[in-house]
Amino acid sequence: MAGLAACAIIGGLVWLAIRSIYRLYFHPLSHFPGPKLAAITSGYECYFNVVKNGSFIWELERLHEIYGPIIRVTPREIHIKDSDYYDEIYSGAARKRNKDGPAVRQFDLDGSAFSAITSELHRERRSAINPFFSKQAISQIETDIKKSLDQFNQHLSRAYKTGRIVSLDAGFSALTSDVILQYAFGFNGGNLEQEDFNEHIRDGIIHLFTSGHIAYFFPVLPAIMSSLPISWVRVISPFAAVLALQRDDLRQRVRKFLSGYRSDNGCVVEKLCSPAMPKHMLDVERVTDEGHAMAIAGTETTARSLSVGAFHIYSNERVKTKLREELRTIMPTPESYPSWNELEKLPYLSGTVYESLRCSTGISSRSPRIAPTETLVYKDYQIPPGTLVSETNFFVLNDPNIFPDPEVFEPERWMRATAKGERLDRYLVNFSKGTRICLGMNLAYAELFMTIATLVRRFDLEVDENSKKQLMFARDFGTPYPDEGVLSLPVKVTASID
Ligand code: HEM
Repeated sequence: MAGLAACAIIGGLVWLAIRSIYRLYFHPLSHFPGPKLAAITSGYECYFNVVKNGSFIWELERLHEIYGPIIRVTPREIHIKDSDYYDEIYSGAARKRNKDGPAVRQFDLDGSAFSAITSELHRERRSAINPFFSKQAISQIETDIKKSLDQFNQHLSRAYKTGRIVSLDAGFSALTSDVILQYAFGFNGGNLEQEDFNEHIRDGIIHLFTSGHIAYFFPVLPAIMSSLPISWVRVISPFAAVLALQRDDLRQRVRKFLSGYRSDNGCVVEKLCSPAMPKHMLDVERVTDEGHAMAIAGTETTARSLSVGAFHIYSNERVKTKLREELRTIMPTPESYPSWNELEKLPYLSGTVYESLRCSTGISSRSPRIAPTETLVYKDYQIPPGTLVSETNFFVLNDPNIFPDPEVFEPERWMRATAKGERLDRYLVNFSKGTRICLGMNLAYAELFMTIATLVRRFDLEVDENSKKQLMFARDFGTPYPDEGVLSLPVKVTASID
């Protein structure tokens, strides 16, 4: 028995040695710059992301300083740090781009457009949902967004009267969650009805995301969790149980639509359950995945941009005053509700929204693409078809050659660029680009414009300087996390503006 074990260990070591030699000297990516250890094993990334808590992004930054703009970051992935090359990787429909199976499987949303690996499957799923998220379609739900905004503003009015501290970050999450659940599934999530915005549930979900890297490197763990009864999951991870329960609830709603139930308002998921859809797209798990992807992707992302924006606006008197002056031109009373279209025409508000996006990053992790048949060319390097290639949005959004003093929140930079005819928006890559660009981009913009406008027109807030630390990007768990804990923005409402 001991002899057998020894043979297995020696065999394993020999296999590892042969694989390492192959990856270093004979692999199609062997001539790309980068550390040898990263070329041999994805354990390099695992160490920084799992052991050192989502810090591979900072290691990437360090490696680029040593090796230049193109590096081999894992045995099968090339990472490029060049803002002008982004569109080549995240390209339009004329050039096929696939996703990486292991990278998307960790989200357990296999039936969604987000998780479609091949460009063909993605096109089929995406074309079914695209029409619901066009600019025109989102303009038609402005009344629903306004209803949620009214509820949100009532919280702030009450807090002004009582002097209570408000968790603005939780309020924004409640707002974006209620809006997407109403639009996608046709029911009110009720988060804004709660005095604490259901903060404990939302905190649970963002805590859960900190285990994302573990799920990627040890995929067996989430697979085991999803096969367990909910009572066991609750004991192991109450946060995971919250998400599982939400999914169960959404699945029941999909079942009802698939069995022919029709609502008054005709939500997105209901339309995805129409008998007119191709039969293979009418599977309950597939539609649940599609709707759940919208609910997950449409909440924390926009809420984080709102929190970062609010922090900067309220800790900078100049920005707040200029913005409020501009808003008064189309919002004569605090209750004025201009349309999204009217708000978009305001240059300073637009600059503020773009800076809120830029300074909040959005998705911080790499999302590699694969060109299945095309050789990508970067300077002297030819990247073979089938290779994972990525850029990191944070590096583009903070590129000092494009956004000088990138750490400064400066709405004016966007107005200067417009005056000079510069297309700075080319580098606002929060939503990614190409065929896989964010589905909910228009919804996010509508929420950002409308929320920032009503908030700044109506209220003065006092933000604690310590909040800056909680909004700073220190650890990457898919979205940016602070050094300790999770994002938080407690505020005091100090005035209600006439
Ligand atoms: C500021 C807010 C947002 C940011 C920064 C953001 C960012 C992104 C990014 C970077 C991607 C590409 C992911 C990848 O490459 O794998 C993406 C995809 C996606 N987003 Fe957003 N998002 C935001 C808001 C929303 C909203 C409000 C929704 C609601 C529907 C949404 C739904 C989705 C979906 C379903 C996908 C997958 C699209 C596909 O692969 O075809 N997002 N988002």
